[in-house]
Amino acid sequence: MKALVIYFSQTGHTGRFAQMIATKLTAAGHSADMFELKTSEPVDMKAVPKPEAIRLQAIPQAAGYDLVCIGTPVWAFRPAPFALKALQQMTDLKAKKIVPFVTMGLPFACMGGTASLSKMAKLALDKGAIPQKGAIITQMFSHPELQMSREAERISHLI
Ligand SMILES: Cc1cc2nc3c(=O)[nH]c(=O)nc-3n(C[C@H](O)[C@H](O)[C@H](O)COP(=O)(O)O)c2cc1C
Repeated sequence: MKALVIYFSQTGHTGRFAQMIATKLTAAGHSADMFELKTSEPVDMKAVPKPEAIRLQAIPQAAGYDLVCIGTPVWAFRPAPFALKALQQMTDLKAKKIVPFVTMGLPFACMGGTASLSKMAKLALDKGAIPQKGAIITQMFSHPELQMSREAERISHLI
């Protein structure tokens, strides 16, 4: 089976989790391609930009994949706008299993993590995708590497 792991990462945490998901999928006998979301122009970070204010260099294509994972950091209690923009622009999510994942600084999923997964799942559902249980990795006081490993293992069996 084939998986696509889409992610945005500013400081590397979400990228590390994305890589771990791809590695576990591969270890489970699947193939996994990674797709890093990048913007066409540098983003003005004085305030968290809205999805409408950014342009992605490329839109991921889900055709041919059995599972799509999409991840982002939590910014200001929401998903950073890049994954939202990708979900808004992707046209081939119908009937695809999709797994949203986030990393966040605060130690409690209820402080933006859960809401971020819901927002991404709703966008995917609106595109006809089939959202699966997502993953939230918290950083502070929470052994993030252990969480990443466990959640990546779980995700590798969703395909
Ligand atoms: C602009 C900005 C806003 C953030 N807002 C939140 C937040 O609301 N809640 C939280 O837990 N972490 C917040 N963080 C921390 C990031 O979510 C966390 O460090 C994340 O793991 C970074 O992922 P990355 O290394 O892939 O960029 C914020 C970070 C930035 C840069």
